[in-house]
Amino acid sequence: MDDRGGLLCIFGATGDLAAKKIFPALRQWSDDALPMRRIWCLGRRSLDTAQYIDFIETRGNIRLGQSLRERIRYHQLEFGDAAAYQSLANRIHEQGFDQDARRLFFLAVKPEAFVPIALQLHGAKLLANGHPEHRLMLEKPFGGNLQSAVAIQQRLMDLVSEEQLYRIDHYLGKEMIRNVLTIRFGNRIFSESWHGGAIDRIEVTSIETTGVEERLDYYDQAGAINDMVQSHLLQMVALVAMAAPDDLGPDSIRQAKIDILNHLRPDPEAKQVIGQYAGYGDQMPGSATETAVEAWLRIDTPQWAGTRFIVRTGKKLAEKRTEIRLHYRPTQLCVSCSETIEARANQLVIEVFPHEGVQLQFNSKTPGYKYEIEQVMAEYCHSCRMIGNKPEAYVKLLQDAWEGDKTLFASFAELQAQWRIADAIRAAARQGDLVIYAPGAPAIISSGGQSC
Ligand code: BG6
Repeated sequence: MDDRGGLLCIFGATGDLAAKKIFPALRQWSDDALPMRRIWCLGRRSLDTAQYIDFIETRGNIRLGQSLRERIRYHQLEFGDAAAYQSLANRIHEQGFDQDARRLFFLAVKPEAFVPIALQLHGAKLLANGHPEHRLMLEKPFGGNLQSAVAIQQRLMDLVSEEQLYRIDHYLGKEMIRNVLTIRFGNRIFSESWHGGAIDRIEVTSIETTGVEERLDYYDQAGAINDMVQSHLLQMVALVAMAAPDDLGPDSIRQAKIDILNHLRPDPEAKQVIGQYAGYGDQMPGSATETAVEAWLRIDTPQWAGTRFIVRTGKKLAEKRTEIRLHYRPTQLCVSCSETIEARANQLVIEVFPHEGVQLQFNSKTPGYKYEIEQVMAEYCHSCRMIGNKPEAYVKLLQDAWEGDKTLFASFAELQAQWRIADAIRAAARQGDLVIYAPGAPAIISSGGQSC
């Protein structure tokens, strides 16, 4: 089939995600020739195509190249308006698109809109059940809790097959997150000590300096647990804790993640802490939505006995940083060491942002005649080795969905496990107080005596 006949349809095309992530990704992808012939942008605002392009360029602070601009068409549409879908179908068919050509519908909208949009697409014969070239790409979060996720999935399954669904978690497209399995399983020095006997705790952190900004409506319903923990952070925990997959195919990797997620639970001996930045309440008076979380988890498998997993995220904190940090248990240099030659615990850091690379902190003798121990650092800079465009997560995910590669997309079974954990964290956290923190506060919310 000639891919050049394909279509990309973006729902939520006037939203923040389209301007800040999807169009920058398409612009980067267009440098090596976009495979789709037309990009239909669908939103509620009354705009023509030229006005839409201006809107995206201004809001996204980008300049779209000629080949990308030529592919874009804007179509005004309310999600539930059958006539607007019919006129979209007419406009698409007028341009001679084949019913069997590839069509990727990117739903950058709230989860409540997934089923209404799929229903209308189906009704307008734009989306055929079971057609492998008709694909739905769904932004996270998939639901608001386990129950609503199951309800959405059941209703979608009346309209499409699981094979047609591509559930996005854009963290899975990030370079260093794609590198976790290689670092773990491709290196005996790490794989042999990747267990609770050697590792005291693993911290998975993704914090940022920005606030909720234009996404208040969505965010106030979601909160940090659904926005970040349920998806990105739990996927990172799964990658860092899973057993070696049978092979590197999507099914084996997903199965290994599901197996470990099924053993993950909030630590009953620790507090789950949620916070809200001061000033959020001025935008949403009376809201108890959390903008930051620190959750302490355990995995009840023999491999992870004794290891604490700590996941942290928050808006309006002091820095933007994403990383996975392993704290090894301290070791003894000699059988009856004196305190003066105590070796400090090693740390291994997989850095995702702002640096992309790996840091290993280990002990060394200080240079010179005296004998003293100091902690030193070996650093690998992954991004330093990239020439040209830096790989961006949304480019990778769009390309994979276009090609039908599901490796970096979450299965429903994974999501169910993630929702079970997120729901349990939320229930435990709500037993405590909502901590109000000052914007720009140190990255980590104090969790009351559970020091790292
Ligand atoms: C998104 C969340 O999934 O991830 C946002 O909805 C968050 O609230 C963003 O800001 C962070 O992504 P990144 O790639 O900037 O770390």
